Amino acid sequence: MNNKIDIYKHMNHIMSQLKTGILITCRLNDRVNSLTVAWGQVGFEWNKLIFTAFIRTGRYTHDMIVNKKEFTVNIPMEDKAGKILGFCGTKSGRDYDKAKELGLTFIESENVDVPGIKELPLTLECKVLYSQLQDKNNIPDDLKTEFYPQDAGSDYHSANRDFHTMFIAEIVGAYIAE
Ligand SMILES: Cc1cc2nc3c(=O)[nH]c(=O)nc-3n(C[C@H](O)[C@H](O)[C@H](O)COP(=O)(O)O)c2cc1C
Repeated sequence: MNNKIDIYKHMNHIMSQLKTGILITCRLNDRVNSLTVAWGQVGFEWNKLIFTAFIRTGRYTHDMIVNKKEFTVNIPMEDKAGKILGFCGTKSGRDYDKAKELGLTFIESENVDVPGIKELPLTLECKVLYSQLQDKNNIPDDLKTEFYPQDAGSDYHSANRDFHTMFIAEIVGAYIAE
């Protein structure tokens, strides 16, 4: 049984954890994969509470979310979960079954077909409402140079050549995995 929560009571915690990294998890055809993200936000659009994630097109998780249109956001509580965030932020689901390597415990969600993760228990259940590849022509040149170096190979984890897709997802549930 998961403990449902009021997101507003955890907003500071969510935003402060984002700075050092949280996980986004997707499940497609029985394959579960998580990546670490630090760019994102909780907000409002269309009178709905939303989570917006920015995921580069080359990430394995990117295409999973495009297809599944659902994901969970997994946020550490007291435990900083540094090892998990480090592994999921440097290894790709193309090469590793990250959950297996790390011994992660899946907790079934109620409102999406993607599990939460017991080790990062604060969970947002998200359904994608809108996604869009950010237009490189609208990104200021200095940011483009800093964050999208075109001489980097996109096969390396920190190769930041690829632009971001912005996924705007409705938060349809929130719980602390137990
Ligand atoms: C602290 C940290 C924050 C990160 N933030 C993001 C992010 O916001 N968006 C993104 O696309 N990648 C981000 N990454 C990189 C991905 O987590 C990394 O490339 C990962 O290996 C991709 O996994 P996948 O190929 O299984 O999707 C971050 C990595 C770290 C370590």
